[in-house]
Amino acid sequence: MMNSAVITPSSQAKIGLDVEALRAQFPALQQNINGKPLVYLDNAATTQKPLAVIETVDQFYRHDNANIHRGVHTLSGRATDLYEAARERVRLSLNGGHTDEIVFVRGVTEAINLVASSFGQSLKAGDEIVISALEHHANIVPWHLLRERIGIVIKVIPVTPIGEIDLSTLPGLITARTRLIAVNHVSNALGTINPVQEICRIAREHDIPTLIDGAQGLPHGPVDVQAIGCDFYALSGHKAFGPSGIGALYARRPWLGKLPPYHGGGDMIETVSFETITYAPPPAKFEAGTPNIEGAIGLGAALTWLAELDHAALAAHEAALLAAATESLGAIPGLKIIGQARHKAPVVSFVLDGIHPHDVGTLLDAQGIAVRTGQHCAMPILQQLGVASGTVRASFCFYNTFDEVEALARAVHRAQTMLS
Ligand code: ALA
Repeated sequence: MMNSAVITPSSQAKIGLDVEALRAQFPALQQNINGKPLVYLDNAATTQKPLAVIETVDQFYRHDNANIHRGVHTLSGRATDLYEAARERVRLSLNGGHTDEIVFVRGVTEAINLVASSFGQSLKAGDEIVISALEHHANIVPWHLLRERIGIVIKVIPVTPIGEIDLSTLPGLITARTRLIAVNHVSNALGTINPVQEICRIAREHDIPTLIDGAQGLPHGPVDVQAIGCDFYALSGHKAFGPSGIGALYARRPWLGKLPPYHGGGDMIETVSFETITYAPPPAKFEAGTPNIEGAIGLGAALTWLAELDHAALAAHEAALLAAATESLGAIPGLKIIGQARHKAPVVSFVLDGIHPHDVGTLLDAQGIAVRTGQHCAMPILQQLGVASGTVRASFCFYNTFDEVEALARAVHRAQTMLS
């Protein structure tokens, strides 16, 4: 983690971090799986939750539970205040300029669908959206839906064999029809940290808005949307120590004022009759129906908890974990690491010669080690890199230890021996 818009592994690897004290805050990490201590290396899929989040949600259910924005009674007022305080916490964590630039959604997938649907209403056949070859399906499929519906054109920034966006090609992809550039901050499949600040700078030179899929960005470093210079930034709570089913879309002013709502219902209107309708101002305009109140409050607690940690120390530890895992796994004959970008989050995707990733994952689980196997919802990039049937992905978090890196390397070696 570091105090910059662009996340890079810190070189301050010597800063101390009390990993055991951190781990003690995560009840789920304190268990055996299949008779072995759990080694949780599936953090890119979802992170475990600290007591600060668990207790906040518990407290809400025990004392403050009510619907928001609807009641004059005390509990409703309390719940509303907590929900709106969580929105302000998201703004603070992203360094957004205004609280009303933050819309609560279910997660990155819904955030991108919101933009595709609302922003998409102004698009015409032949208009172009630029994404990268490194995208998660959440930043591919919504654009396909628009392509099928109105005939937009999807253009793709190529990715090099080591898994880096080939930025030099971007200016050549931009035309008078380019309407949006949408890329991820950090690749979930390979761990590549993308040059989002530079991408947004190029986009701004051409007056093109930008959307950043921040699902894997926020867990690995403070994000500064103003320094990045993006128009939209999407995040998922569960990837950043908060609950599932909650996330946020940051939209720089005046986007939310201009865009039409993408779904309708209670709490998003100012007036409604059978003949006419006027919408509530943003962000309410985009939050139809009772939202995930406890999720938002839990996300606020996660971001508060995260903000109080020593980010330089976390970054140094994650960079050291990545280096150790790359070295230990890289030393196993027949193992190939997929994605060797110069700037990487602590993610190691790999394949073993002649062995299916699912078989490796199953044997790792038998040894208490949780990894993700398969295509990681990123089929195009895995296909391009020649691993269409998938990889084994170990994704680390600052609560992981060097002993766990070694346990992983030993277990992979063992699985390889058993399956060869
Ligand atoms: N997008 C999540 C992952 O990469 C689920 O595992």
